[in-house]
Amino acid sequence: MKLKITPLQVVVHSAALLLSVWVIWDLFFNTLNINPIQTAMQHSGKIALIFLTLTLACTPLNILFGLRQTLKLRRTLGLFTFMFAAFHFFIFVGIDYAFDWSLLKIEFYEKRFVIVGLAAGTILALLAVTSFKWWMKKLGKNWKRLHKFIYLAAGLVIVHYAWAKKGDLFSLQGDILGSLAFGLVLAFLLLIRIPAVRKAANSLRGRVKRRQISTSNSKEPVNL
Ligand code: HEM
Repeated sequence: MKLKITPLQVVVHSAALLLSVWVIWDLFFNTLNINPIQTAMQHSGKIALIFLTLTLACTPLNILFGLRQTLKLRRTLGLFTFMFAAFHFFIFVGIDYAFDWSLLKIEFYEKRFVIVGLAAGTILALLAVTSFKWWMKKLGKNWKRLHKFIYLAAGLVIVHYAWAKKGDLFSLQGDILGSLAFGLVLAFLLLIRIPAVRKAANSLRGRVKRRQISTSNSKEPVNL
């Protein structure tokens, strides 16, 4: 079997490796930081959200610009989303609370946004485990249905992010700019998947392509 690695895959894997080193450096070597655990938590959470957004951007990029190569990256990006969410979870449970479940129970009760994060993390774990070909075959049509839960995970992550920043999406209090920006981008990416919007985008792309072909043909030199 021939292994074919595209430049885009090299970029994604290198970015994930560098970002992992950054989170580990934050935790153990950044002596200038007053609260390295909190910084590593915040960075890993943000990186997981960025990978989630990139995972959900692949299909819209193909619909809008015909970038088919992005479709092959969906699984890799999804797995990196899970990997950074797992880092984020481990830093909280293992490093910050040293697996002290009695303390963690109090924390879950006092910080309800953590429960929302846990729900999103559980969905991401389920999707990562079932992302392999064996599960695809075993689940058949249900595989696609199950993987639609990524939209629910994305919604939960936005609520978790806004709530963690002590903001409130509805009363527009606190530091909600970041979560609002990610929320709008994710909403746009989901909107493009609606069949009617998708059809309109496809026909617009077709018209633009035809126009480009006809103008390039009219510019061709005439052989006399
Ligand atoms: C798996 C269970 C999860 C737990 C226990 C958890 C816990 C936390 C905690 C305690 C914070 C507050 C950090 C602080 O400012 O002190 C936080 C913030 C955050 N989490 Fe999570 N989280 C979880 C899942 C997720 C997932 C799945 C994502 C994204 C895919 C995520 C993204 C974020 C983001 C973006 C922030 C805000 C970071 C910032 O302040 O800039 N979390 N999380």
